This record gives sequence, structure tokens and C-alpha cells, in this order.
Amino acid sequence: MAELGVEVPGLALANPLMLASGVQGGTAAALHRVAASRCGGLVSKSIGPVAREIYPGPVCVESTDSVVLNAMGLPNPGVDSFTEMLSQNEFSKPMLVSIFGPDAESVADIAKKMEAAGATALELNLSCPHAKPGSRALIVGQQPELIKEYISAVKQAVGIPVYAKLTPNTAQVSTEAGAALEAGADGVSLINTVSALEVDPYAGRPIIGNLLCGMSGPSIRPIAQRKVAEVALAMRRGEIPTAPILAMGGITTGLDVARFIMLGATAVQIGSALIYGDADVFGEIENELNEFMDVQGYSDLESMRGIALDTMEGLN
Ligand SMILES: Cc1cc2nc3c(=O)[nH]c(=O)nc-3n(C[C@H](O)[C@H](O)[C@H](O)COP(=O)(O)O)c2cc1C
Repeated sequence: MAELGVEVPGLALANPLMLASGVQGGTAAALHRVAASRCGGLVSKSIGPVAREIYPGPVCVESTDSVVLNAMGLPNPGVDSFTEMLSQNEFSKPMLVSIFGPDAESVADIAKKMEAAGATALELNLSCPHAKPGSRALIVGQQPELIKEYISAVKQAVGIPVYAKLTPNTAQVSTEAGAALEAGADGVSLINTVSALEVDPYAGRPIIGNLLCGMSGPSIRPIAQRKVAEVALAMRRGEIPTAPILAMGGITTGLDVARFIMLGATAVQIGSALIYGDADVFGEIENELNEFMDVQGYSDLESMRGIALDTMEGLN
């Protein structure tokens, strides 16, 4: 059997398969349940400064085959309730605690509280609007200067590793990855959902309650792969600092995991696949990955990592 263990700042993973933020990571019960599966690690639901209610429905729909649309509205229990839960629970798998906030000070404050409650690594969800005037139309993750401001504030506030979760909805994601890493991020997570819209022709209106939504699931995997390759190639060329990439977007099989590792990912995250197959998907994907690596003669992840980039060196 191939060696699937991998270490990244703040996390020693028995295999590279992590839960993605937002899918079953909001409560202690859900996190324990996923931890009991064969996942290598967890990522919590994104936690903000105060409790937020879910948007009016429908909030998550598989509109056509392999197309998952959601606009949940970042529902979460708020940092004080989450830290209470965190300090009372020991999870059997390493966990990234995902956080977001309306400005850099708020997110630094949340980060401090999470560290004090026992978090060993953070993922900063940059796909949220910025509260300060002048930038309401854009999310933080589309503005490299704001990314730097947020990451610097969090890095100054805590001693634990910080990952920047990037949006695919920009012209060149290596720019935002570079901004995060230059500001001190210990790794990057990509991609968050792809901006989307779907109409119910019978109702004559958008399908999702919030009207606009984000797209995930198998249909976005090639988009995610391209974004991951853009960042990995920029690292190879020395255009941006080198750091671990946690890759996600549409992973449902062991072959999908191999694809992302071959594009330079260190580990992966899996979200929408749990909507189809629940936490059991981790065991199935791990079996498939093991079988693929055995048949193809890869003894560990390192021997596969980045090999698909070798043919792409000259690309911009
Ligand atoms: C229902 C749902 C809720 C999500 N909530 C969050 C969230 O709270 N924070 C976050 O960073 N990403 C969130 N995401 C994005 C996922 O973490 C992931 O980046 C994206 O769905 C692509 O991976 P997938 O195709 O495996 O789902 C959410 C995705 C879905 C489908």
C-alpha cells in the first residue's frame, strides 16, 4: 500500500483527504461524525464574529447533474459559542478552523479567541464582503491589498499557522495567492465556489433564494485544476513564495485526488461529494487512491506531486 501520510504547517494528516469548509463542519456532533470516517483532517464551517442565520431557501440545490449551487449566507454560531464548543471537545483528526470577518481587526480578534480555545491552525475564508465603505461591491478575496491587510492582522494576532482560502472569481489567482503568502500566510486553500446563477424557467426566477449563488461539485473540477496549476506554476517559477496548496473543487474519486496532487497540491479538501455520499466517501476515495497508486507504481504522494506541471513550465 502507498504511503499517504502528509504534513503541512499545523496539521499531521494520515491521508491527504480533508473535509472542506461549510459541509457538515458547523457543530461538534457533525465534526465528530466526519472525524470518525477515514478522512485525514477536518475544516470547520466558517465562523464569524456573531451568530448568523441561514438565508431564506432554497439554499443548496443540485440544479443539473454534477452542478451544486449554494448561497447559505455563512450561517454559523458565532465565535463565542464556537470557542466554547472547541474548548470542550477533543477531535480525533487534525482540524483547520475556518474564520471570516467584516474587517481585519474583527478577523484578528476571532483568530485570537480560536487560538486561546485550542485551535492549532486557521483557514481564513476571504470570500466575504468587506464592511468598510468603498469596497462593498467586492469580496475581500478579490482585492490583493485587503488580502494582505487581513492576513497580516491575523498573523500578528496569533502564533498558529494560517491558510488563505482563495476565490476562483478573479483574473489571475496567483496574484491573490502571492498577496496572501507575501503577507505571511503559511499555505493557500483553493478554490472556493465559482460565481453562478440559475433560473427556474417554470417559476420565472432564479432557483436559489438569495438569487446569486456559488457553484461547486464535479462540474467545477477542471476550473479548480486550472487555478491550482496557475498558483503551483507561479511558485515553481519563483514569482510567489512557495507554500503548501490545499486543493479542492469537485473531488469525488481517488483519481480526482491524484489529478490535484499531480498539479502540485499537498493535500485536498472535499465538500460537495458529502452531499452525494456522506462521510463514507472518504473511505471510498482513499481505497481508490491507494489502488491507483499501487497499480501505477507510486509509493507515496511525493512521487506524484507536481508531475503534471512538468509539461506546463512554459505556460503563463
Ligand atoms: C453548502 C456549502 C457551504 C459552503 N460553506 C463554506 C464556508 O462556510 N466557508 C468556506 O470557506 N467555503 C464554503 N464552501 C465552499 C467549499 O468549502 C469548497 O471550497 C467548494 O464547495 C468546492 O469544493 P467541492 O466541489 O468539493 O464542494 C461551501 C460549499 C458548499 C457546497
